[in-house]
Formats: sequence, structure tokens, C-alpha cells
Amino acid sequence: MNLADLNKVAIAMTANGKGILAADESTGTIKKRFDAINTECTEDSRRDYREMMFRTTEAMKNHISGVILYDETIWQKAKDGTPLVDIIKKAGSIPGIKVDEGIKPLPNCPGETVTIGLDKLADRLAKYYEQGARFAKWRGVIDIGAGIPTATCIHTNTHALARYAALCQAAQIVPIVEPEVLMDGDHDIDRCFEVTTAVLKAQFEELYRQRVALEGIVLKPNMAISGKKNGKRASVEEVAEKTVRMLKNCVPGAVPGIAFLSGGQSDEEATAHLDTMNKIGGLPWNLTFSYGRALQAAPQKAWSGKAENYAAGQRAFAHRAHMNGLASLGQWKQDLEKKAA
Ligand code: 13P
Repeated sequence: MNLADLNKVAIAMTANGKGILAADESTGTIKKRFDAINTECTEDSRRDYREMMFRTTEAMKNHISGVILYDETIWQKAKDGTPLVDIIKKAGSIPGIKVDEGIKPLPNCPGETVTIGLDKLADRLAKYYEQGARFAKWRGVIDIGAGIPTATCIHTNTHALARYAALCQAAQIVPIVEPEVLMDGDHDIDRCFEVTTAVLKAQFEELYRQRVALEGIVLKPNMAISGKKNGKRASVEEVAEKTVRMLKNCVPGAVPGIAFLSGGQSDEEATAHLDTMNKIGGLPWNLTFSYGRALQAAPQKAWSGKAENYAAGQRAFAHRAHMNGLASLGQWKQDLEKKAA
């Protein structure tokens, strides 16, 4: 492992003013998104849609440090035959790859899951490196509900994430470590704070046990936030203040950068939360975005699977990338949203 090089990539992934585009939806997930815009989900339509974003050159150059790809996409070629990976690299962005193989029920823990994909991971990472990937992603899923998460679920998922991270670094690939606490329930922000704190504490203990060098990872956490079904939603200021407090208590300063998932927040909420945290400032790590839905909902809608909407799709993508780029600097203002609308 060359830690200096891993550290350089981790720093570039979370560089000031930039963040990560999570475009690694599995075929099943992207089909759901395409169903919502009445678009047929085929190998070509998935390619066309993703190519549209990767060719939004200025936004990619200025605001997208890296792109998380799904296995299908990393091998795909654009319409004109250029490998999609080359388009991403030419725009000055770093290609990355989702390497987990999804979730399965966790035995003896009803309602909970474990993320799978460690078998043969070393071989797959070597092939992805050859194809240009310089970072990877693995997502553990922790749900909040009556009697859950169990200690078993937290331990199993953070352990798998740490095993994955160690394998990535051995393959000279920066691991994005993503232990996601879901915001689907009816819990309040304090319960989310408490569970996420326990998960992050366990995560860094497991990373230590697997001898993972923290200078060569990027953490992708959820924010401390109210569950979607909770009627009393915490304010933007409360989310920002509690998330920063939680991270300061759990994440060592050796970690170069933290890139949040959006997890079902609205586009503007996800931007406002990130911006407010960066306005608090004085943090040991860069705080940025690694958004899927909060970057893509707008371009998906604008494009709606129609070639004639290509430019509109690109404009919508460029706008969200710009807004989140500003948020990563604490320089976003809400009236910038209105002007674009
Ligand atoms: P969302 O921002 O839509 O939560 O997706 C980010 C991601 O990569 C989840 O693993």
C-alpha cells in the first residue's frame, strides 16, 4: 500500500468546492427511478442518462470530484464509442466503483440486514483498478425501529465495512466507508444522533482492528436528522449543529474528508444542511456531499428519457452540482435556487 497516494486521492475526492456524484444505483434501483419518469430501463437508456451527466463538462470540472459507478457502467462505452470512464477522467473527475453486492437478511436479527460481497473482493478490486477506479464504495445499512438496531447488526456491518476497507487499501483503492443509518422511521433526531454515534464509534474501532489507515479513507455518513415519518422535523440549524457535534465526537482528525449521503432528503434540504455545517466551520476534515438522489432527482425529471430534453437535463444537473459545491464551502444562499427556477 502506498499511503501517500491513497491520501492524495482521498483529499482530491473531498476538495474544497467539490463533491461526489453517487451514480451507482443497481439496475433494480435505477429501474424504479426510470419508472417514475416513464422511461424504459435498458442498457442503452441507462448509458444515455449517465453519459448526459458525465458530459456536463463545466459542472463536472468545477464541482464533481469523483463519480461512483455501478459495475455495468464502468465497462460501458458512450454512444460515440468513448469509454465512459475516459469521459469522467477528461472532465477532471475520478472514477470510483460500488463493490458491495447488496443486502441480505441478517440471521437471528429479524428486520435487519448485512451487506455482502467480501468473497473474491480482492480479485474484483484488481480488475476495477485496471479499469481506472481509484476509489470504491460499500454501504452498510442500519435501520432504526422498535428494538433495533441490535448490537449484532452494528457489529456485523461495521466489521464487514472494515474488512472491505482493508482490502481496498491493499489494492491501492480509497475506500468510501458508508455505514448508513436510515432515516425511514418515525424516530426523532436525538434517537438518530444516539444510534449514529454508536455506529460511528463501532466503525472506527473496527477500522483500527483491521489496521486501516484513516488518512486513506473517505467517510460517508448520514446526518443526524429526524426520521421521515416523524411529524416534528428538526430545523436546518438543529440538524447541522447536532451532526457536527456527533462527527466531532466520533471521527478522528486523521480522516481527510467526510462526504454525506442524502438518504431521502429533498434536494434543497440536503444542500442547506451541508451549507449550514460548513458555515459553522472550524472542522478538522473537509465536509462535502456524495449525493445520489439529491443530485439526480432534478436532472432525471428534466430529462424524462427524451433526447430533446438532453440540454435541460444537463442544466438541472449543473445547477444542483453548483449549489452543492457552494454548500461545501458554506457559500450557498437560498435565493440562488429561486433565480434558477
Ligand atoms: P443518496 O444520496 O440517494 O442517499 O445515495 C447516496 C448513496 O450512495 C447511497 O449509498
